[in-house]
Amino acid sequence: MTNAGSGDRDANADERTSADERAGGGDPSDAAADPSDGGVAPPSWFREEAALTDPGIYDEFDTEWPDAWGRAADLLDWDRPYRTVLDDSEPPFYRWFPDGRLNAAANCVDRHLDGRRNQLAIRWFGKRGERRSYTYFDLHREVNAAAAALRELGVEEGDVVTLYLPMIPELPITMLACARIGAPHNVVFAGLSAEALATRLDAADSAYLVTCDGYYRREDAFNQKSKADNARLRIDGDLAATVVVDRLGDALSVPLGEDEHDYGTLIDRHDGETVAPVARDATDLLFVMYTSGTTGRPKGVEHATGGYLAHVAWTARNVLDVRPDDTYWCAADIGWITGHSYGVYGPLALGTTTVLYEGSPDYPDRDRVWDLIERNAVSVFYTSPTAIRSFMKWGAEYPDAHDLSSIRLLGTVGEAITPKAWRWYREHVGGGDAPVVDTWWQTETGAIALATLPGVTPMKPGRVGPPLPGIDARVVDETGDPVAPGEAGYLTIGKPWPGMLRGLREGEKRYRREYWLETDDGWRYRTGDGATVDDDGYVTILGRVDDVINVRTRRFNTAELESAIVAVDGVTEAAVVGDGDGGVVAYATTRSGVDPDDRTRAAIRDRLAATVGEIARPDRVVFTTELPKTRSGKIMRRLLEDITQDDEFGDISALRNPEVVGEIESAVRDDG
Ligand code: PRX
Repeated sequence: MTNAGSGDRDANADERTSADERAGGGDPSDAAADPSDGGVAPPSWFREEAALTDPGIYDEFDTEWPDAWGRAADLLDWDRPYRTVLDDSEPPFYRWFPDGRLNAAANCVDRHLDGRRNQLAIRWFGKRGERRSYTYFDLHREVNAAAAALRELGVEEGDVVTLYLPMIPELPITMLACARIGAPHNVVFAGLSAEALATRLDAADSAYLVTCDGYYRREDAFNQKSKADNARLRIDGDLAATVVVDRLGDALSVPLGEDEHDYGTLIDRHDGETVAPVARDATDLLFVMYTSGTTGRPKGVEHATGGYLAHVAWTARNVLDVRPDDTYWCAADIGWITGHSYGVYGPLALGTTTVLYEGSPDYPDRDRVWDLIERNAVSVFYTSPTAIRSFMKWGAEYPDAHDLSSIRLLGTVGEAITPKAWRWYREHVGGGDAPVVDTWWQTETGAIALATLPGVTPMKPGRVGPPLPGIDARVVDETGDPVAPGEAGYLTIGKPWPGMLRGLREGEKRYRREYWLETDDGWRYRTGDGATVDDDGYVTILGRVDDVINVRTRRFNTAELESAIVAVDGVTEAAVVGDGDGGVVAYATTRSGVDPDDRTRAAIRDRLAATVGEIARPDRVVFTTELPKTRSGKIMRRLLEDITQDDEFGDISALRNPEVVGEIESAVRDDG
């Protein structure tokens, strides 16, 4: 048994070795809290009011598993109560609350009308200084109108609706409208290219698209509709209907073609109508979200209605400590899983106020985030280490100039946070003593799986923490045995959990192959992450062990990016690695006779931005005569990563062409 990424095991082995060596050699937890210390205790003022303060919760989930997860399901309203918590008769296919029925939109909107209809559901801040607020009553009206509009266009229960929208209120509104009528949504991040949209429309077999005329990036208006038009030309089938939201007003006029509809006109036509929420089986598809896997083609992760919503609500309440009277801000874009789970479904299921921000953190000035927290008395703020690093770079004077005393809890997600960044965040944003929860999870886990419980568990800066109650996460070696404390291994999850993906759009075979290992001890889910664990069971994440890289907390498959680079004229081979700062560095070799020059460099950058999206534009492009390869011919990305990040090399004995190392090092230095 092995925990290597699926695909070519042997080829992956060399990469694994060097990752392990690196982790084992230079203990990544050096700078973290001392394992012998008990960590930073939750502050007593926080514990006094926290949603969850009973340390017995871990034991309860252990002894009552899986029934203890009923606590999460009980945070929801069910049309038909579930009797069975988990059907695990056909592993690795798991069905949570299988005989229960519910509607996600009714849980996120309708049930809050009772006595709380004037509570704010969404506070939106647009790029040009606009503000819009929706009470739960407003949200109910607009979601109903949007649901009626989708029905008018022919959308039926089970039809996949693709949403290609920036951070505007119409995005959560159409997500909830889809959920209301039982049409799974497929949100594609607005910054992705026409090609990426086309692939996702085809793969999801989606005939309905909701997009917009354009959106603003700083001062400039960008034409989103033309990207959608290009995608339409590329797809295999045809779209039955396209809805276009007017985001830019007069700034850009886009003529509507046949089967294209103006969102505002549709909503006006159905304003005041109600659409009864469709009761869905808990195991019915709520949405699909494409993410990068171990091969070049993105995979469609499917989330079921009941288990997903239960897990998301439970963790929003008990890990992020979100309460109905909070103003809560998850800074992630709704185009990715964090925005789905903790920008939309989690906070709305709990009936809180969620802040949506369309703009950049440094526009009009570098204090924009702190200004918004102060103005809105935000009590819980959830962001990524990438953002925190930028805040640190810009300087503590920006947060320090604002009254951030409303903050009760801070969260981080997406990549490992260094102890230094953790402390900075707590000091300058959290008033020095707010809990900072480092949360580990993935598109596939649907919701937080590893984190401290802020009212119960001590925090250790730089370490994620123990698995949540009910999550059977273990760091194991090649053979599946748990590793000793401090030793690097693979992060796996044994028993199923409610928020887990119910499968992949690409079918059962790929689902098994991508994620599951059958062991003597049952099935184990492979996260694809390397990790260590300390004596207290706190996990430190070392990064991916497969061909996935995280760029500015977005996930890409290396082959996906590299195939775009080698499509540039004259380029023969490419490898992409992270720069340790959230950015991406592209290494490329050119055909003999082709001198790598600035034109090729620019072409590589533009090509990645065009085929994948602006966010994949490399921060640096380094030319080299050869890439480092193993004897089996596989590019040693780990070595490139070490060189890029100026780290000590792991084991390079498997390298076929060690002579290139010096050349690459000087190319990196010359390139600055
Ligand atoms: O490598 C881990 C990293 O992000 C990956 C999941 O990416 P994605 O599916 O895009 O979801 C991101 C947001 C949930 C993981 O396999 N990751 C996520 N959270 C952390 C993390 N790495 C270290 N520490 C974290 N807290």
